[in-house]
Amino acid sequence: MTTTASASGTFKIGGDLEVTRLGFGAMRIVGPGRWGEPRDRDEVLRVLRRLPELGVDFIDTADSYGPFVSEDLIAEALRPYERVVVATKGGFTRQGPNVWTEVGRPAYLRQCVQMSLRRLGVERIDLYQLHRIDPLEDRGAQFAELKAFQDEGLVRHLGLSEVTVEEIEAAREVFEVTTVQNRFNLVDRSAQDVLDYCEREGIGFIPWFPLASGALAAPGGVAAEVAAAHAATPGQVALAWLLQRSPVMLPIPGTSSVAHLEENVAAAALTLSDAEMAQLEAAAA
Ligand SMILES: NC(=O)c1ccc[n+]([C@@H]2O[C@H](COP(=O)([O-])OP(=O)(O)OC[C@H]3O[C@@H](n4cnc5c(N)ncnc54)[C@H](OP(=O)(O)O)[C@@H]3O)[C@@H](O)[C@H]2O)c1
Repeated sequence: MTTTASASGTFKIGGDLEVTRLGFGAMRIVGPGRWGEPRDRDEVLRVLRRLPELGVDFIDTADSYGPFVSEDLIAEALRPYERVVVATKGGFTRQGPNVWTEVGRPAYLRQCVQMSLRRLGVERIDLYQLHRIDPLEDRGAQFAELKAFQDEGLVRHLGLSEVTVEEIEAAREVFEVTTVQNRFNLVDRSAQDVLDYCEREGIGFIPWFPLASGALAAPGGVAAEVAAAHAATPGQVALAWLLQRSPVMLPIPGTSSVAHLEENVAAAALTLSDAEMAQLEAAAA
């Protein structure tokens, strides 16, 4: 029997938007350098259409992936989104492959949300995240604009990305922060304090680059050893470790291949022992 994402359990974003904890990141369904069309468009559409079949009901994207290509493909494959929540982000502009520049001027953020609504073909975005706080703009003005989107019914819930605890607290003065998206994985735990804060406050924590396991996945590495004991892959161990680490953890592994997607979703059913969790904890310490 095929494992579905439901084995990862669920989390209620903002207390009322229930999603399976193992989601999907849609940054990798575009061209190299997160720029332009994907190399294999048909396969990417198959990946997206396989998501509901595998019980994955939480997709993370952004207007800047492509730019625009990721949102367009999601709409083409999944609209009218019967069994899936699409979260998107704004506030990052693109000047070419691998080039990203924050722009948080309120009028620009408003254009971002309006164009995401149009591309996704929805009247309201379930979860809208500020991709980056623009350091050159007043952050209070950026937060106020996001709150206005919510008050106007353009978005349901709001979240942040790549932020400190201090920044989350500043945003919470203006709106309810329901998710935070920071890089976090077996080999990069620099956002540990943010994860602890989110767990305490019941905020969903979306770790990006969740599959990274670096040298731990090499022969003799802890992730490789634990994987061998379960007839699994180090990537599956990396995902299982995240899911077991915190009930607010919502990993969003991304891929442009159906085979990789199926492998990643199967990690939802992988249970690590306390000893294995401790080994993996210690490995990156
Ligand atoms: N908020 C932010 O600033 C931010 C930044 C980066 C990413 N994100 C979000 O986080 C999501 C995930 O992050 P990420 O894409 O950096 O990292 P990731 O999902 O951990 O890794 C994706 C990479 O791993 C490969 N891969 C996936 N499954 C695999 C498998 N089973 N076996 C072998 N290789 C596999 C993919 O290539 P294939 O296509 O060949 O499978 C791709 O190169 C993104 O999609 C995006 O939604 C957010």
